[in-house]
Amino acid sequence: MNRVLRSTLVATLLAPALALMAQASEPTNVKELQKARHDHYHELGDNFKVVRDQVRTDKPDLAAIKTAAKFVNDAAGEQEKWFPAGSGPEAGKTQALPEIWSKPAEFKAAMKMFSDAAPKLQTAANSGDVAAIKTAFGDVGKSCKNCHDKFRAEEH
Ligand code: HEC
Repeated sequence: MNRVLRSTLVATLLAPALALMAQASEPTNVKELQKARHDHYHELGDNFKVVRDQVRTDKPDLAAIKTAAKFVNDAAGEQEKWFPAGSGPEAGKTQALPEIWSKPAEFKAAMKMFSDAAPKLQTAANSGDVAAIKTAFGDVGKSCKNCHDKFRAEEH
């Protein structure tokens, strides 16, 4: 084997090994993913609370409800991106349960329940019909709880 051929061969064999090593040495990335997910849900919780608090008042702030409902609906569409493989409890402290990855069909169904309900909340919010907002809020709330009961750990 001539020298050029040999070094090409070594480079070819080495490249995937180096790529694997690079992956293995990026734990901060997974931590960042986990933190981003945590932050997303925190914001989702805050926005959902805006709707809840407003419909409880005598004069709900419809503009605030509209903005918050849009945030909730956008989150329902984004949510599936927040759970890349390897970002579960094996990668560090998280409330995301391993079932998210071991029961993907069930988890997908739980996400779908949310993404089916959320547009109705946004539509109701845009209409300004407080009774309709309350109903849609209740349905979205059930979808949050449904998923938390199955896929979220109680404590950190
Ligand atoms: C399909 C599943 C699913 C749905 C639907 C869902 N969540 Fe969650 N939620 C989770 C998981 C999993 C976590 C834990 C995430 C983690 O720790 O990485 C979480 C965490 C949270 C947290 C905790 C964030 C923190 O500060 O630690 C809040 C608040 C929250 N969700 C609110 C909501 C609200 C409000 C809704 C509905 C509008 C909702 N979630 C819908 C799965 C879901």
